[in-house]
Amino acid sequence: MDVEAIVKKMTLEEKAAAVEGKLFWFTQAYPELGVPEVQVSDGPHGLRKMYGQGLTITSVCFPAACATACSFDTELMEKMGQALGKECQAEDVAVLLGPAVNIKRSPLCGRNFEYISEDPYVAGKMSAALIRGVQSENVGTSIKHFAANNQEFERMYGSSEVDERTLREIYFPAFEIAVKESDPWTVMCSYNRINGTYSSENPWLLNDVLRKEWGFKGLVMSDWGAVSDRIAGIAAGLDLDMPGSQGVNNESIVQAVRTGKLSEEALDTAVTNILNMVEKYVSHRGDGAADGKKAEYLLDRAADHALATEVAKECVVLLKNKEKVLPLAKEETVALIGGFAEKPRFQGGGSSHINSYKVVSALSVAEKYGAFTFNRGFSEKEDVIEEDLQREAVEAAEKADKIVVFAGLPDLFESEAYDREHMRLPACQNHLIEELLKTGKPVIVVLHNGSPVEMPWADEVDGIVEAYLGGDGIGEAVMDVLYGKVNPSGRLAESFPMKLSDNPSYLNFPGTEHKVNYAEGVFVGYRYYDTKQMEVRYPFGYGLSYTEFRYSNLRISRDTFTAAEGVTVSVDVTNIGDRAGKEVVQLYVSDKTGSAIRPVHELKGFCKLALEPGETKTAVFTLDKRAFAWYDVEDGDWRASNGTYVIEVGRSSREIEYTEEVHIIGTPEKPPVITPDVQMGELLRSPYTRDYAMELLKPFTVKFTRSDSETDEMVEAVMRFLPLRSLRSFQGVTNETVDELCKALQAHIDEQLKGAQSR
Ligand code: BGC
Repeated sequence: MDVEAIVKKMTLEEKAAAVEGKLFWFTQAYPELGVPEVQVSDGPHGLRKMYGQGLTITSVCFPAACATACSFDTELMEKMGQALGKECQAEDVAVLLGPAVNIKRSPLCGRNFEYISEDPYVAGKMSAALIRGVQSENVGTSIKHFAANNQEFERMYGSSEVDERTLREIYFPAFEIAVKESDPWTVMCSYNRINGTYSSENPWLLNDVLRKEWGFKGLVMSDWGAVSDRIAGIAAGLDLDMPGSQGVNNESIVQAVRTGKLSEEALDTAVTNILNMVEKYVSHRGDGAADGKKAEYLLDRAADHALATEVAKECVVLLKNKEKVLPLAKEETVALIGGFAEKPRFQGGGSSHINSYKVVSALSVAEKYGAFTFNRGFSEKEDVIEEDLQREAVEAAEKADKIVVFAGLPDLFESEAYDREHMRLPACQNHLIEELLKTGKPVIVVLHNGSPVEMPWADEVDGIVEAYLGGDGIGEAVMDVLYGKVNPSGRLAESFPMKLSDNPSYLNFPGTEHKVNYAEGVFVGYRYYDTKQMEVRYPFGYGLSYTEFRYSNLRISRDTFTAAEGVTVSVDVTNIGDRAGKEVVQLYVSDKTGSAIRPVHELKGFCKLALEPGETKTAVFTLDKRAFAWYDVEDGDWRASNGTYVIEVGRSSREIEYTEEVHIIGTPEKPPVITPDVQMGELLRSPYTRDYAMELLKPFTVKFTRSDSETDEMVEAVMRFLPLRSLRSFQGVTNETVDELCKALQAHIDEQLKGAQSR
């Protein structure tokens, strides 16, 4: 397809029609111009291809992002992405609608299960890997929902009120990393408004930031129904309106071009971006992977289900293992309790919901592992204590060696389109757990949930296994972990607060009057809990293993460097236990320069190492300017200030094994802004004015003589915050004197800036 030539041939009416979808999932076809239609499909953790009257094909449900994030394994993400890409090719789907990378601002967001992390770096790296995988099969992705869509309440109308620095540091980087590292074919804009402007018609968001700054070359589509003003949208860089207006907008687009309200170039760009995507897909449809090898694309559900199970095994997080209650032994009789053992909750509700071809429950495979009994214990559908179910469960538990309760959030609690109202498990489940604890037998809780829950019994139970919504193979994965066939290696990609009110968004979630104020700024998740030194139930990055790892030999390539040079950090990790296991090594950077208010530390690197007993491997991290920088809105750029930073290497945000100071030099300092209001302290601190101001102000400083009770330090401290204009309070200092001083200071600064430029 010669896209340029086709767009030239298209009539204005054809172009107006081309920028919206058809029949919910298709792009428009123009057979006479050689343009076929292509289909897109949800996403993100399985293929939800629709056909006929709202029917979906059966396919495989991979673990949801809340779970896959815990693998901290980018290679695994790529592998899963590749499998999804193959499924798309087999089903002739051009674009998979995912990954979903919105930041988990509040544990209450109904879609947290679809999202990756509270940390933008993890969300970016994991999504970039998934995109690489899918697109290696010549199928596109649609990273979503761009941007600041962190709740379901009023999601299609509400405005996320977020300052630019917070957008740049927290809500944008996942998209930015993915765009820069793996070039997604498409980006899906979010429903909400940002600071009053819909994402679907925000030129700063779509054209300036996404395209001009990050270099995005693909197409932007709307979330389904996100378009408000279509004309403004096209002008702002929104190419494709999905699912479309059934032609309702076509005439207004034509009129807008005719009357000059919309430039035809903008419309042409939108059409070109859409046709480029179509061309990219159809030119390699069924071709095989990017390596050029022909592949026979079949939707191999059995193979993909096996892969989904393998992925799930890498995601399970062991949160508590008191006195090594786990792994269970074959000889032990285990009371399995809870309907989720029979019917696991393995995915969330809404557009990501997969029509699974096969679901493996823990109960269906339990026989292979050891002796067990099974009782439901509680109703999984409603929150009422069912005395009979509870009594039977407790009776069975009394006869067992150990008790495993499969608890979790019922389907109704978590879905796209609405948020949770609290962070609790159903009271009937908490009650049953308390009753089981009374038996005196060891109690292990397995959790199925898409987002953190409060755990009032956490200190009393012996084991906790976080299985999240682990896809349709989760039953087997959980049993493998419980019995030690798999050594758990998942780590939390989000903090578990003690209670909801600890969460930084608590006072501003979900907002009122169609606005939600992101008042906590950059202090999201562990950035808040760790800075405030608050107790959390489980910290970010945390997870246990059946083996132990020792960290040693931290090396840093240099301790002083410029931001452009960056630095390399490495650390050795040894498995000192007796079983093979995997460790997620995490690197945080802590800014001690004081140049901005920042979280106490931020994750800037992670890697997962697989280690046999006794084996040592080295984790290597390369840190560039961004690893140290914050976003300086005044400069419109990232700033890594000169001064000291601490590199922290550890196994979670709260278990730091090594800290080491490094120093950044050579970042151009910002000169003080010279007006009569400039404070003397700023002048005496800045390298641009320090010596010069000392001399210049000497005649005036004698006026600040101290009384007997004052020290020099006190006088200095008082002067620090005195504006230059305060000199007017002294005899002989006029407005003209202050202006002269300002001029002299500015001239001195300009001279140095000129000197620096010419160097
Ligand atoms: C969701 C998207 C999804 C789309 C198509 C929307 O409601 O927000 O994530 O891809 O529907 O199903």
